[in-house]
Amino acid sequence: MHAPHPFPTKEKTKKLSLLFVCLGNICRSPAADGIMHKRVEDEGLSDRITIDSAGTYGGHAGGLPDARMRQHAMRRGYELTHRARRVESSDFDRFDMILAMDDSNYDDLMRLAPDVASQKKIVRMVSFCTTTHWDHVPDPYYEGASGFEKVLDILEDACNGLLTEIKNNRL
Ligand code: 4NP
Repeated sequence: MHAPHPFPTKEKTKKLSLLFVCLGNICRSPAADGIMHKRVEDEGLSDRITIDSAGTYGGHAGGLPDARMRQHAMRRGYELTHRARRVESSDFDRFDMILAMDDSNYDDLMRLAPDVASQKKIVRMVSFCTTTHWDHVPDPYYEGASGFEKVLDILEDACNGLLTEIKNNRL
């Protein structure tokens, strides 16, 4: 469905850094951040992979994830404690992969990227899904409980696929 994503080259001594990005950094990207943190911790890879999240919109900066997302995530064993922040230009330098939740996030990131090398770091989160197929991770902000559960289902699938690809290609 999507073009193959470029994968960072093997550099065994350097930590791989991942930045998950959505609009507000209070629902989808902090959930992806929390899920991936747990996966990486469970596999004993915390010293090899750095994880963070940010939003293209800074209106929620400093805040915890949305209470509904925290509650749904907690039921699956993920404690979301991230403090929201806006994407900044240094992120394109600091991170190896920048994972966009939807097309609007993707387009905004492509516009913000300072150069072509930075643009090549931007990939769609859903491109890592293996058991379900989605065009994007839908914004749950104006949805009910099922919207948050659906986002967590998609993100768990994508995080599993992403970690498998990292283990096969990068570690
Ligand atoms: P997120 O969800 O991008 O997954 O964090 C949203 C959070 C806040 C808003 C929109 C989406 N908002 O418009 O404030």
